[in-house]
Amino acid sequence: MARILGIETSCDETAAAVVDDARQILASVVLSQVPVHRLYGGVVPELASREHLRGIVPVVRQALEEAGGERGPVPLSALDAVAVTRGPGLAGALLVGLTFAKAVALAAHKPLIGVNHLEGHLHAVLLEERRNGRPDPPLPAVALVVSGGHTQLYRVDRRGDQFTYRLLGQTRDDAAGEAYDKVAKLLGLGYPGGPLLDRLATAGDAAAVDFGRVRLKGNPLDFSFSGLKTAVRRNLQSHPDLQAAVVARREAVATLGHAPSADDWRRLCDQATLDLIASFQAAVVTDLTQRTLAAVDQGSAAKTPVASAFVTGGVAANSALRRTLQTEMERQGLGFFAPAPALCTDNAAMIAAAAFPRFQRREWADGALTASAQLPLAETA
Ligand code: KG4
Ligand code: ZN
Repeated sequence: MARILGIETSCDETAAAVVDDARQILASVVLSQVPVHRLYGGVVPELASREHLRGIVPVVRQALEEAGGERGPVPLSALDAVAVTRGPGLAGALLVGLTFAKAVALAAHKPLIGVNHLEGHLHAVLLEERRNGRPDPPLPAVALVVSGGHTQLYRVDRRGDQFTYRLLGQTRDDAAGEAYDKVAKLLGLGYPGGPLLDRLATAGDAAAVDFGRVRLKGNPLDFSFSGLKTAVRRNLQSHPDLQAAVVARREAVATLGHAPSADDWRRLCDQATLDLIASFQAAVVTDLTQRTLAAVDQGSAAKTPVASAFVTGGVAANSALRRTLQTEMERQGLGFFAPAPALCTDNAAMIAAAAFPRFQRREWADGALTASAQLPLAETA
């Protein structure tokens, strides 16, 4: 058995988890920095590093306490390894988790394992199945990793206990989550935009605005979301009533005296704004689904055809995306797998789970392990 402490600080969540055998989550603590970054409508790297520094000790302590339950905190001596995200992400943010993980590993005489954040998101899919007592999804899989920082399609396979990842396509500009966040900002709505727009979209007419399909030259499995964001801006500019609603909403929020609740946001949106939101979401979901289907199609011609489809990352928490992908993949006769929403967004349980195969191979990081803001996943395959 391997009990691994996972630590994740790549972006704006300070997270720690204790996971046994990439299967059982004893504790998963996530401290969100949203209240700090909300004022700026996006993550401010400098502030993120400071908040990680503030949060890392209490978050790790809480994870060890929760993991021990009534028996008291899990002592460091009871851990088998410490796993930490080494990239990709914000360099200063990554360094906080890395430095802390090194110190814990050194003090407790435990091996240290460096994990790629994207590999973490992919292993969240496997962790979800295992923790529910289900077998691993059949491989190879086509996996859509879609978050605030990434929109990528991978082919995931396995040789023995070694996982392999091949990048099939990726966004050429904004990530899908970034598009959600930017559109929410344009509309005078809160941060992060994804969960909010997801909820508001259910009250709008998705057919109200036709944003068309994104056409790209070259790799059909690449993505582009900046054009859609611009189309939303143009739509606003050509509708003075919508623009006036944005101004009114910003003023109403400023006089509210507290952070708006979901109900407040719903009340502050007129029907035309809700229709625009629903149409935007439909465009994103259709694009992500069509390109995932194209990847499956391409993969089906390979010697070992695709056996399942995964979706993971913050945007994989989106209810419409999950529903649409599930329907479409089942229509293709493929198993569809997605982590529970809490495992889709950044967390440290996925980092501890992704470290497990490396633990089995005794692939320890040395003392020189450092952060790599642009770390590609293929390098760690
Ligand atoms: O994976 P994550 O926590 O952090 C990154 O690695 O980026 O993803 C955060 C992103 C944000 O852009 C957020 O707006 C988006 O995921 N997100 C959603 C939903 N929940 C989070 N987007 C659409 N629908 C959601 N329900
Ligand atoms: Zn992430």
